[in-house]
Amino acid sequence: MIVTVLSAKGGVGKSTTAIHLATYFQTLAPTLLVDGDGIRSATKWSQRGNGKGLPFKVIGYAELARSASKYTHIIIDTEGNPSDEDFRDATKGSDALVIPAVPESVATDGLTHTLTKLQEMENGQYRVLLTMVPPKPRIEGAQLRQMLVEQEIPIFKAEIPRLAAFEKAAAEGVPVYAVQNDKNAQRGWKAYEAVAKELVNGRA
Ligand SMILES: Nc1ncnc2c1ncn2[C@@H]1O[C@H](COP(=O)(O)OP(=O)(O)O)[C@@H](O)[C@H]1O
Ligand SMILES: [Mg+2]
Repeated sequence: MIVTVLSAKGGVGKSTTAIHLATYFQTLAPTLLVDGDGIRSATKWSQRGNGKGLPFKVIGYAELARSASKYTHIIIDTEGNPSDEDFRDATKGSDALVIPAVPESVATDGLTHTLTKLQEMENGQYRVLLTMVPPKPRIEGAQLRQMLVEQEIPIFKAEIPRLAAFEKAAAEGVPVYAVQNDKNAQRGWKAYEAVAKELVNGRA
């Protein structure tokens, strides 16, 4: 399965999402994470773990041609501000597109632009993923979900809570489940696990 994580803006959780989807897919079959972002945050994440923190291989686009055939699953992390061509390539080149959206910053993070582009593409297997969802009693997550459902925009049932454990995971160069002394680490992992299972089950 080839999964691309895409959004108009940076800072919405693309790299965090790509890392954790790759972590899950690696439990099923050999998985490669392609770091398509110029600032290489996924690559740096894996380096902070000294090559032992993440259970899958991370490479850049230039290495993909040589490596792709060895892997069953490929997760592609992308950079912000994709061009129309980038959208089209991602749509054609992937089995599924994951579009992270942060409920609190949806007005400024280009979600509408991203969704308009995707609707222009035919047969786009895209779904919005709510990320960094603030805890109750905050209702921004539920509001955004309702808005997307009303517009008949495909959305993952699972959503990713806003948790400090994700920032610790990035700092330590590990998946969130390996963060020590944080009571929410397993909750963060279960959330991404649920997203990955929806991807696997929703495969056309
Ligand atoms: N669910 C979350 N809860 C809290 N912080 C998060 C969460 N997801 C990502 N972050 C943090 O938000 C920042 C941006 O996330 P990142 O995955 O790098 O986004 P992008 O790749 O879209 O730029 C990072 O500091 C990351 O650690
Ligand atoms: Mg990123």
